[in-house]
Amino acid sequence: MSAHWNHVYESRECDKFSWFEPEPTTSLELLEELAIAPDDAVLDIGAGESLLADRLAARGYHDLTILDLSTTAIAVTLARVGRHDVTAIEADVTTWRPARRYDVWHDRAVLHFIGPPRVRDYVETMHSALSPGAKVVIGVFAPDGPTTCSGLEVTRYDADDIAQLLDTGFDIVAARRARHVTPWGAEQSFQWVAAVRKGRALSPSTPPRNGD
Ligand SMILES: C[S@@+](CC[C@H](N)C(=O)[O-])C[C@H]1O[C@@H](n2cnc3c(N)ncnc32)[C@H](O)[C@@H]1O
Repeated sequence: MSAHWNHVYESRECDKFSWFEPEPTTSLELLEELAIAPDDAVLDIGAGESLLADRLAARGYHDLTILDLSTTAIAVTLARVGRHDVTAIEADVTTWRPARRYDVWHDRAVLHFIGPPRVRDYVETMHSALSPGAKVVIGVFAPDGPTTCSGLEVTRYDADDIAQLLDTGFDIVAARRARHVTPWGAEQSFQWVAAVRKGRALSPSTPPRNGD
């Protein structure tokens, strides 16, 4: 699958992809609603060539990690944002096992590519990556959104589907539909959810407990 995505990213400039957005507006609005802070460790799943890392780095965020299957997309994003500000991980989110915990999980337009057989693995990665009190923003194709993207079939979600995936370990803070307009003017319906993992957030001075 990484060959597919490398091929996609090598074939066009980033502003020609259907998912391109000149500003990650909904992501930033929901992250703001969740009151994330510049010291938070932020993980952008399937970041691709998104400008989210640029915008967070410009706001003083200094612990940013982008994860993607595509080496090509990662190289473009690192060259743009700067290696100093961003850690890059080339991995499949469904098999990746994080070596540390993060405070924020962001996923725009990735979960819908993870078919039902692998979606539990996605959720398992999320659980092992996030600290108690961590914030989650997920944006995926809604039930009235596209059925394919980049030549791949997708699974569409409404807010309840995402809440069920996250299960009782998360409180849903916001859910909204948004229309993404592609570079050629087509509209795509996205479902967005913002959530907080239950459990007390660890302050920097709180020593980790066994099992944390
Ligand atoms: C539609 S693009 C969205 C990119 C970016 N999030 C954005 O909003 O511009 C989907 C991205 O997810 C990545 N991706 C797809 N499946 C993945 C997986 N299983 N693990 C990690 N990344 C994946 C692709 O390489 C691609 O960069």
